[in-house]
Amino acid sequence: MFVQEAEQETPISSMPGHARLGVLGLVSAAKQAFDLGVPAVALFPAVSEQLKDARAKESTNPDGLLQRAVQALKKALPELVVITDVALDPYSSDGHDGVLVDGRIDNDESLPILAAMAVAQAQAGADVVAPSDMMDGRVAAIRSALDDGGHQDVLICSYCTKYASSFYGPFREALDSAPRGGDKKTYQMDPANTRELFREVALDESEGADWIMVKPGLPYSDVLTRVREATPLPVASYHVSGEYSMLKAASEKGWMDYDAALLESLLCLKRAGADIIFTYGAVDAARLLRS
Ligand code: PBG
Repeated sequence: MFVQEAEQETPISSMPGHARLGVLGLVSAAKQAFDLGVPAVALFPAVSEQLKDARAKESTNPDGLLQRAVQALKKALPELVVITDVALDPYSSDGHDGVLVDGRIDNDESLPILAAMAVAQAQAGADVVAPSDMMDGRVAAIRSALDDGGHQDVLICSYCTKYASSFYGPFREALDSAPRGGDKKTYQMDPANTRELFREVALDESEGADWIMVKPGLPYSDVLTRVREATPLPVASYHVSGEYSMLKAASEKGWMDYDAALLESLLCLKRAGADIIFTYGAVDAARLLRS
């Protein structure tokens, strides 16, 4: 779910059915979802442009938008699992997930920033922190910072095999977070490469990841199956914004039945090996499964 400062909802044109919500709106939408059986929400903040800088300083503000949203959700719905995203992009004036130094992503300079961000989210009450940045070594850095801060019980869902995909476009519109220059190919994975998954899984396991994520969903279901076989950890699949938007757009044109195609997509992800599915269709699916 996307959270913004203003309570007046901002629709997201490429994601029909989704909007940026203020904190109060978020709590009521999360309550509806929870009542329908959705056990968890993943939060992403749309940060105002004036608060963005090169080092994503706003991300550790204890009174920042995301931190307030987490507090409000946990207060209203203590049983709802709240998952927060760890990456610089919503807070970065460069729109990248790590810090840019002399025009290049500096992996190691990014690690303390990511670790501090995760601690701020845990302090606000996040149950699961989900590093989506793809820097090397961030799971270990985050785990040790969380433990030092007394957050041993906060889980890490590592975006383990995350590919440099064109299916993230609608998400970047939702947060206005597209890279201002260059692309994410120096840190996200090459869509042509599956063998690298074994290295990524082994590193994340050894660094202390609790859940392993494969992203995007359907176009990478071969990766999902192989990751499922390669690790005993719970495996999550992220049915990403572009996948959701395709279903919506085709159904708006009358070319496909959204409800059936959504449930089939999620079924296929489960068949391919997902234990957990992140999807923008969660509320729709919960409603369909009940009826
Ligand atoms: C960025 C992040 C992205 C998504 C989740 N976290 C976009 C990106 O890597 O540019 C994409 C999710 C989606 O498309 O639904 N840290």
